[in-house]
Amino acid sequence: MTASTFGYFDDANKEYVVTTPFTPLPWINYLGNDGFFGLISNTSGGYSFYRDAKFRRITRYRYNNVPMDSGGRYFYINDNGTVWNPGGRPVRTELDHYECRHGMGYSKFIGRKNDIEVEQTTFIPLKDWCEVHRVTVTNQSAAKKSVKLFSSLEWCLWNAEDDGANFQRNFSTGEVELEGSAIYHKTEYRERRNHYSFFSVNAPLAGYDTDRQHFVGVYNDYSCPKAVMDGACTNSEAHGWSPVAAHQLDVELAAGESKTFVFVMGYVEVEPENKWQAPGVINKQPAKALIARYDTAEKASAALKTLTDYWDELLSRFTVKSDDERLDRALNIWNQYQNMVTFNMSRSASYFESGIGRGMGFRDSNQDTIGFAHMIPSAVRERIIDLAATQQSDGSAYHQYQPLTKKGNADIGGNFNDDPMWLVLAVANYVKESGDVSFLKHIVPFEDTPEVPSTIYDHLKASFYHVVNNLGPHKLPLIGRADWNDCLNLNCFSTEPNESYQTTQRGDSDVAESLMIAGQFVLYGNEFIAIAKLLGFEADAVDAQPHVDAMVSAVKEHGWDGEWFLRAYDSQSQPIGSSNNNEGKIFIESQGFCTMAGIGFDDGKAKQALDSVEKHLACEYGVMLQQPAFSEYNPLYGEITSYPPGYKENAGIFCHNNPWIVVAEAMLGRADKALSYYTRITPAFIEHLTERHKTEPYVYSQMISGRDAYIQGEAKNSWLTGTAAWNYYAATQYILGIRPDYNGLQIDPCLDASLGDINITRQFRDAVYHIEIKQGGGTGKGIASMTIDGVDVDGDVIDYQKFNGEHEIKVVLN
Ligand code: BGC
Ligand code: NOJ
Repeated sequence: MTASTFGYFDDANKEYVVTTPFTPLPWINYLGNDGFFGLISNTSGGYSFYRDAKFRRITRYRYNNVPMDSGGRYFYINDNGTVWNPGGRPVRTELDHYECRHGMGYSKFIGRKNDIEVEQTTFIPLKDWCEVHRVTVTNQSAAKKSVKLFSSLEWCLWNAEDDGANFQRNFSTGEVELEGSAIYHKTEYRERRNHYSFFSVNAPLAGYDTDRQHFVGVYNDYSCPKAVMDGACTNSEAHGWSPVAAHQLDVELAAGESKTFVFVMGYVEVEPENKWQAPGVINKQPAKALIARYDTAEKASAALKTLTDYWDELLSRFTVKSDDERLDRALNIWNQYQNMVTFNMSRSASYFESGIGRGMGFRDSNQDTIGFAHMIPSAVRERIIDLAATQQSDGSAYHQYQPLTKKGNADIGGNFNDDPMWLVLAVANYVKESGDVSFLKHIVPFEDTPEVPSTIYDHLKASFYHVVNNLGPHKLPLIGRADWNDCLNLNCFSTEPNESYQTTQRGDSDVAESLMIAGQFVLYGNEFIAIAKLLGFEADAVDAQPHVDAMVSAVKEHGWDGEWFLRAYDSQSQPIGSSNNNEGKIFIESQGFCTMAGIGFDDGKAKQALDSVEKHLACEYGVMLQQPAFSEYNPLYGEITSYPPGYKENAGIFCHNNPWIVVAEAMLGRADKALSYYTRITPAFIEHLTERHKTEPYVYSQMISGRDAYIQGEAKNSWLTGTAAWNYYAATQYILGIRPDYNGLQIDPCLDASLGDINITRQFRDAVYHIEIKQGGGTGKGIASMTIDGVDVDGDVIDYQKFNGEHEIKVVLN
């Protein structure tokens, strides 16, 4: 265990223990695996939704609130006038003890005040659409005690965007029902909705409220809800205004006695023909069945155990034991956990993403799979199908789709010209991991040609030729609206404050070119060729090769600035990311992608580009996106120049791209540099920076402010970032060098001596490999010798067809 001012890692329990409610920012966790999701902060703030944070928001949350993070599922104790929450907020009463344990799919809060202890464990069971709160109240005194326990949450009227805007309607639509100890939220059920939600408890009520004005009071807030302060709910029934659900339980406890209550907040969909059980009365059968599955403490605890067992199994597929517990903690627990969350959420709902702005991003979701395919390959397979179904037959793709409908998002559209090639990465990685070669022949029609039985392979081919068919004057890929860097908007020229930088496209996009896509095309174009060969489509491979070769030549001829790769050509065909520019002389993306693609390994350009990254872009807190920062808004470049220097894409440390440099350094065999870049942004290694960082010390953030920022090294936008999948991929596949390939598992570490000898357990297809890697006292790159079960292996690939079951691999490094 290592401690910081705000908490510590408890690796044995796979938990981060927060020891104060007053963290620099709310530190959250994610609940739910399949459909029903919740965000929960270290003080039990947050909200829940079913599948789609925009269209099926179940509980209400007000972003950017004062104080921060006001709103959640709160439990209150009124102990003879002393009022407090086990989660330490929003009531301001200081607790005698507070801790929040964020674990794998659950959060536990332990609060103690005046000899009453409350333990609240909140989780979403594996298979059900509900959030379970197991609440145990213990009297630790030597005398009998009577306390009142209140629950509270506020319903969202389903469409989160409308809920925060359309008040003239919303204040008149709210409807609820009460039966037994369950409060049902049925707004809009009378018309076009076939779903409702509920909040129940397995004990008789002393009172309840369903209307916020009665429970909280018009001019009170959640730190002093009127009913809780008064010690009694009012049994209000909401009609319009703001429906809430609050229970009151009067709890009598003998000395030393504990009582456990199970609260269940759930979501139900009903067949249209079975909506009503009586005129105006909703059909509660499905809700009752759901409640019955968690109506005792034993049932709730069993469901929690099933969940933790599930996580133990998932995390056992890749484990590492090194000399550095920080590496083990990152790779064995938190990075994999974050990979699941980014896979599930894409960039939709976090404490920085409101859940209404974005659905599932094509680019983001494809990349998220590379951190997750080893955990649940079948889920990745399904995700790839959903993504491919939004692709057009010319290879272009909707930039986002809505998870509820799985339809491409028309208001955003497409023309982000990096999008198509990410599909090649996701499919290649999935097939290498799973061995599911037949997936390449799986039929998923293109969005615009539903009648044509196109295969996944056809999608990859369309992606490839989308780049080939969209080249600019230097035979480099046209950038379209933007490439990976959403904020490099070379065809927009926006001067109107209320228009989108990304989707307002004024230019024809027939000139501006991207060196990032050029590198991406070479890297994943080669992968496409490998896949064509794998399937025996030799002619396709032969046809494709010259396009890749031509791109390498174009990069060398028109994309090299002298000491690094250019970033782009703008709408005037002028270079960006050149020493001739006054600002934005060097960018990270093209250095990462061109070198990962292997360009310049033959003539020293790759090494020189990476040396330039170190010289110009690297700083203590990570590698900055570009330098020097843009000091003025430039409509020719777009949003990148809109950010103040040092923030976001304008020379912030945009963590997502840092692992590209790690991979490239590992390919080059510079183990010390690869490790150094990796650790600069990896949470477990920078716990000591938490006060500066402010975001959760257990997950990656999207951005850390760079050298030009007013406050340097401050992180923002935690959780939903491609950094998670990419840094995991970089560390496991390139630093540790355990790399699935089509025919077997390649072992190609690039290990800094400081990590010592390493032991890894890796499940791969039908086998489990126990891999011992010993330092050889040399560069740490590549292997000097390898045996499997005592027998020498030729080369560095373990042929997967030869090995099932458990095996011992021993590797000695160069
Ligand atoms: C952000 C980007 C983000 C984009 C899309 C921009 O304002 O800076 O990081 O990708 O919005 O929402
Ligand atoms: C965040 C977006 O989600 C991602 O798609 C993009 O690549 C980066 N920002 C960089 O702009």
